[in-house]
Amino acid sequence: MSIRLGVNIDHVATLRNARKISEPSPLEAAKVVKKSGAHLITIHLREDRRHINDNDAKQIIKNIDLDINLEIGPTEEMIDFAINHKPEFICLVPEKREEITTEGGLNLDLKEVILAIEKLQKNNLNVCLFIDPTIENIKKSKQLDIKYVELHTGNYSNNFLKNFDKEISLIKDCAKLCKEFNISCHAGHGLNYDNVALIAKIKEISELNIGHSIISNSIFFGLEKSIKKMIEIMKNSRE
Ligand code: PXP
Repeated sequence: MSIRLGVNIDHVATLRNARKISEPSPLEAAKVVKKSGAHLITIHLREDRRHINDNDAKQIIKNIDLDINLEIGPTEEMIDFAINHKPEFICLVPEKREEITTEGGLNLDLKEVILAIEKLQKNNLNVCLFIDPTIENIKKSKQLDIKYVELHTGNYSNNFLKNFDKEISLIKDCAKLCKEFNISCHAGHGLNYDNVALIAKIKEISELNIGHSIISNSIFFGLEKSIKKMIEIMKNSRE
């Protein structure tokens, strides 16, 4: 199985919003992502619109001929947006206004999460759940008839320079169970050129979503080069 890279371009909008003008443009960034050979574009429409806004999301979904992975919280407003604009994938994430980034995976026992899944599935949309890597979460995803999950690699990434044995073995066990259940297993959060190889090596994982480190590197080396370097590392670690 090959591995896909989704590039999260939220931070292009973060920079644009710092000046409240039109550049840098997330739509232009999306074009570069496609040209660089990445496989999908990830954007997170947050409740407070701190980076990507409605117009960015609409323009990118409409104009970019690449799979779009729209991350949203399980709220009525966001679910309706997804149903109206139909990106190829919808990744449900928990969302707290005060957090700096998505800090943990979804709680699959919450009524609002179950209702959001049901509504998206009824509208024939591909639903992915951003979850902490636990066996319990994979079993619950199976019960919810979910076909895609994204494992939160934040704990692995944060512990990469310390002791990450526990985190990596949890991720491996979850990825194996996903395969058994016929669930596509994705992963992401905090991945960079140093820590990505061990995750990309897990053959049951079919997609990684990476944002901060790629956009950070692009300041120094350009977006295309930074994406190509990540694809190269992912490919090499797979072989
Ligand atoms: N996957 C999900 C569900 C996320 O919320 C984020 C951060 O927006 C990412 C992946 C990318 O994480 P990072 O920016 O740390 O690479």
